[in-house]
Amino acid sequence: MRTAAIIPAAGRGERLGPGLPKALRELGGAPLLVHAVRAVDRARSVDLVVVAAPPEDPAAVERLLNDYEWVGEVLVVAGGLDRQQSVARALASLPEDVDVVLVHDAARPLAPPELVDAVAATIRRGAAACVPVVPLADTVKVVADDQVVRTLDRSSLRAVQTPQGFRRAVLAAAHAAVEQALADGGLPEGPAATDDAGMVERQGVPVVAVPGSEEAFKVTRPLDLLTAEALLTRRRA
Ligand code: CTP
Ligand code: MG
Repeated sequence: MRTAAIIPAAGRGERLGPGLPKALRELGGAPLLVHAVRAVDRARSVDLVVVAAPPEDPAAVERLLNDYEWVGEVLVVAGGLDRQQSVARALASLPEDVDVVLVHDAARPLAPPELVDAVAATIRRGAAACVPVVPLADTVKVVADDQVVRTLDRSSLRAVQTPQGFRRAVLAAAHAAVEQALADGGLPEGPAATDDAGMVERQGVPVVAVPGSEEAFKVTRPLDLLTAEALLTRRRA
């Protein structure tokens, strides 16, 4: 089995504030993207990495990544207008012999390679799809018009991380279904899927949950970048 890791990295990083696209913002002397590629490249299960770069200048991202040494092959494609498009473009560029696909946000630079391997192993053992999950620290309530509607049962809720793993055909079918729905002029019923597993769930495919890692947190806001700096400093000590 050949395993590829797709890194969607084409987002602007609006919530991080003004500056370069998020994947190119610096963390401990290297762009977030370099850390994220390193996380999957160092995982024993990953043979190939495909980065969906900010579409303005994918060649610049290719040059940046060529300055580093990688265990496996690292390819760059132009990302799209939303995350789904970015993943779809990378997926379309995969060599035919890849049968397991991991999708890992560039915005999760410090995910441990062991987590990457655990997700890949779940697919290699036969699962169609797999997500890493962590329990929630906060109580979660449904709120509308500044009024609490109800409180959800926290014991059954989990926050979902990446890398998410898929049999290639399962992920390709889910993306094809979204693209078909868009071409037909309407998105599927309900809120837009914010991750790949959400799209796969819509296809009725079972998704296995494995324990995530607190180090696989997503850099979304400025405070997350401070947390990432602190974790990196601790790792380097
Ligand atoms: N992403 C992408 N292509 C897009 C939008 C997002 O590849 N058109 C990627 C981001 O680069 C990121 C991942 O999807 O690695 C998760 O998205 P998010 O954390 O929302 O990043 P951004 O969209 O960049 O941030 P923001 O929503 O704050 O602008
Ligand atoms: Mg976003």
